[in-house]
Amino acid sequence: MSLHNKFIIVGVTGGIAAYKAAYLVRALKKQGADVQVIMTEAAKSFITELTMQALSGHPVLSETLKPQSNSGIEHIEMATKADAIIIAPATANTLARIRAGMANDLLTAIVLAATCPIYVAPAMNENMWKNPITQDNLKALQNYGFKVISPETGFQACGATGPGRMAEPEHIVDYLVRQLNYRPLAGKKVVITAGPTKEAIDPVRFISNHSSGKMGYAIADAASNLGAEVVLISGPVRIPAPTSVKLVNVISAEDMLSATESHIPHCDIFISCAAVADFRCKNISEQKIKKTGDTDSMTIELVKNPDILSTVGHLSNRPGLVVGFAAETQNVEENALKKLKSKNADMIIANNVSDKSVGFNSDNNSITIYSTTREPANYINTPKNELGYVIMNHCLSQLDNNV
Ligand code: C5P
Repeated sequence: MSLHNKFIIVGVTGGIAAYKAAYLVRALKKQGADVQVIMTEAAKSFITELTMQALSGHPVLSETLKPQSNSGIEHIEMATKADAIIIAPATANTLARIRAGMANDLLTAIVLAATCPIYVAPAMNENMWKNPITQDNLKALQNYGFKVISPETGFQACGATGPGRMAEPEHIVDYLVRQLNYRPLAGKKVVITAGPTKEAIDPVRFISNHSSGKMGYAIADAASNLGAEVVLISGPVRIPAPTSVKLVNVISAEDMLSATESHIPHCDIFISCAAVADFRCKNISEQKIKKTGDTDSMTIELVKNPDILSTVGHLSNRPGLVVGFAAETQNVEENALKKLKSKNADMIIANNVSDKSVGFNSDNNSITIYSTTREPANYINTPKNELGYVIMNHCLSQLDNNV
């Protein structure tokens, strides 16, 4: 039974597919999971609490604060105890409430307080599914680390035939079994740099770049979900870090280097995803630099920043695997291969940042992975959170090769 010892919360929301949640609970129990069902008020119009109680072996919960509850903070206790939360079916309404950060019933409160992986299996009419608002909500949830189990295409209760049918319970269970047991990076330490650096000019100005941090954060999320201990050393970004990683915030390249040096001992995989500024100001003005009436130009003298990737790549006790990125606007392959050598890296992931549809700030990326042991591998216009897993799986197989 491959879900033995796993405590799984099944959230049921108010859609016609709620009847499939009964099959889901039965299949999860069959795999050995301890299942707690939480229903929204709307779900109770589609399937009874008694059915779900009988199948799960626990009374169904749906209210946040009940006078008879022991501590009154059941939702926090349950959220921290769960190994996974699966919301099936997930209606457009519940997805929107979660995306908005609402906690106006027990299910959404638990989702907000949870630190475990959260899976959603949407089910809705095909037009509701295709609506850009729903798609935008799903994309936002994916960026927050939620896993979406895509609906299937077929006959719908409303008479339409199209995408929106909840994935079949046995597919969901297969997927959860694989996800919750696949921890090939358990026992490994992964250090990742991400985001831009900011190099001060004076107290109010700085030099930086367009890096959003999304790629590095997606790699961190994947590494952590695959069982690694992850340290994410991040320049200033506007996205939330996965809750399961150790986040170290830094500003400048020099800060990033010293944070990296202090976390590199015992590190198995170092991934330098940050867009580190190559230069910093030689002298940072203590006061805001004033414009003067008599000159139309000004000069800032820049000095080279330390190259963090190259520093780590050349350490005598370097991690087993050192991975860098190459954001290039031309001669992508040639430059990537040069970096592989000059930085003593095992893998360089190249992306052509002149293509505005992917790369910096976008949710997708097109990359080519160059490594010292394998043929180059291309991934075109792929969501960054999928690429996180692709990259970690490449790291895993190369690490096995290196041993
Ligand atoms: O040499 P270039 O800056 O193009 O190389 C990019 C790679 O090197 C990225 O992996 C980036 O994170 C890393 N890098 C670094 N320190 C720098 C400049 C780049 O670690 N100062």
